[in-house]
Order: sequence, then structure tokens, then C-alpha cells
Amino acid sequence: MKIALIGYGKMGRELERAAQKRGHSVAARIDPTLELGATTEISLRTIGAADVCLEFTHPEAATANIEQVVRLGKPLVVGTTGWYRHLPEVEKWVSQWKTGLVYAPNFSLGVNLFYRVAAGAARLFHRFDEYDVCGAETHHRLKADSPSGTARQLANVVLEHFPRKKRLVVDSLNRPIEPEEFHLVSLRAGSFPGTHSLFFDSAADTLELTHTARSRAGFASGALLAAEWIVGKQGVYTFENVLEDLLGGML
Ligand SMILES: NC(=O)c1ccc[n+]([C@@H]2O[C@H](COP(=O)([O-])OP(=O)(O)OC[C@H]3O[C@@H](n4cnc5c(N)ncnc54)[C@H](OP(=O)(O)O)[C@@H]3O)[C@@H](O)[C@H]2O)c1
Repeated sequence: MKIALIGYGKMGRELERAAQKRGHSVAARIDPTLELGATTEISLRTIGAADVCLEFTHPEAATANIEQVVRLGKPLVVGTTGWYRHLPEVEKWVSQWKTGLVYAPNFSLGVNLFYRVAAGAARLFHRFDEYDVCGAETHHRLKADSPSGTARQLANVVLEHFPRKKRLVVDSLNRPIEPEEFHLVSLRAGSFPGTHSLFFDSAADTLELTHTARSRAGFASGALLAAEWIVGKQGVYTFENVLEDLLGGML
């Protein structure tokens, strides 16, 4: 497969490494900071040879990039976050130009499988009243948001599959927790690349499920999996749809 990298920053470079390992080649790198032939131009000339494009740039750039790629009829994987309010327009363009697009706030294969494992575990433990559930996440000191988007998604999974929990609480409580509150704490320090844990706890024991990210490689392999999947398909999909298709009813 020939890929076009739209955005050649940290993720663009990680995608290039991962793509080469999977036997794909890079047909174009589009980024304003590239030296020699630097361009942000998305045209038939620059991406015409690509089978699929991967967009990892900036929230302000993503929607215009998506429009240009889609108008050229190329399938696209979008990792950039922060443009989702434009989703209705994007859906129209994708349908009008008859191409395919996959987007996700987190393309890590491990995290997305973790959501599925967490859903299954929540359904099981919910059946036994002696078990309670809570969560924790740890990230580097520069992370802007808290809890992380991934932690919020994990909380949604718990609220859906462990119905005794009806509300997410993320603050310091300074009071006993209500049984229907799902407590999720965030820790910030140092360089942690990102850890998310769920604890199912009873008087007798604790089951801990933890996903620990080591690098950006997990995002790249998930995004490439999505890129391989979207070629030849039409419509707008999330990474969850991709996994649903690949895994069927598993878990
Ligand atoms: N979904 C996921 O799994 C996932 C995972 C990791 C990151 N992300 C998201 O992906 C995005 C990129 O992350 P990153 O870590 O690679 O950031 P980064 O290192 O800042 O790279 C972004 C690159 O895109 C370039 N760029 C800006 N506007 C552009 C345009 N119009 N056309 C082409 N290139 C353009 C930037 O150039 P300048 O520096 O000159 O602006 C920069 O080189 C962020 O939104 C991040 O949150 C998503």
C-alpha cells in the first residue's frame, strides 16, 4: 500500500517507521515544516499516487485537510482531535465524493482492546454485589487535560456495563463516596506516557486491569490497521467500527 502522510510531526514520523515495517511505502509527506519542497498542498500532484492518507496535524488544520483529501476521492484516517464539531459536514463530503474515512481520538490498539476487556469485566463483576469498581490514570506533567480523554471513555464503558454506577466523579471527595458514584482519579508528574487502571474490589480480593502505554508506536499500528481496512470502503467510521468488523462478536 502507498500512503500519504499529512502532517509529518511526531506521529507522522512514527507512522512512517511503522508503515515501512509492515511493507507499505510513503508516497507523500505533507507538512509546512519540511525542508526542500516543503508544501502543505494537498492535490492530485502530491497525493495522487497514494492508496490512503493519514492525517495527524493540528485541530485548526484538520477539517480543511479532510475536505481536500475527500474531494480527491482518497480514503483517509484522521488522528487529529478537536475538529469533531465539523463531523456533519465531513459526513456530507465523504458521501458526496464516495470515499471512506476512519477517525478516533485514540488509535492505540491496546487501549481499544482494553475498552472491550473492561466492558466484559464490568458486566461480570456487576453481577456480584460484593464488588465495587473505581479507576485511576497517570500521565506526564505537561498533559493539558484531566482526566484524559481515554479515561473518560473508560468511565463511559463502566457506566454502561456496571449499572450500579450512575455518575462519574473525578474530584477529591472529602466525604464518603456514594454507592452509585464511579470514582476516577488522575495523577500528574514526570514523564509517564499514560497509564489507565480499573479496580474491581471486594472484601476478599481486588482485580486490577491496567493498560500502560510505552510510546506512540501503539497509535501508529492502530492507525495503519485502520488505513488498511478503509481502502475500498465508503462512509465515515470510528476505530471501534473497524475493530467490531475485524473481531465480530468476540468479547
Ligand atoms: N488519535 C490518536 O490516536 C492520536 C495519537 C497521537 C496524537 N494525536 C493527535 O494527532 C495530532 C498530531 O500529533 P503529533 O504528536 O504528531 O503533533 P506534532 O508533532 O505537532 O505534528 C503535527 C505536524 O503537522 C504539521 N501541520 C500543521 N498544519 C498542517 C497542515 N495544514 N498540513 C500539513 N501539516 C500540518 C505541523 O507543522 P507545524 O509544527 O509547523 O505546525 C507538525 O509538523 C494532534 O492533534 C494529536 O493530538 C492523535
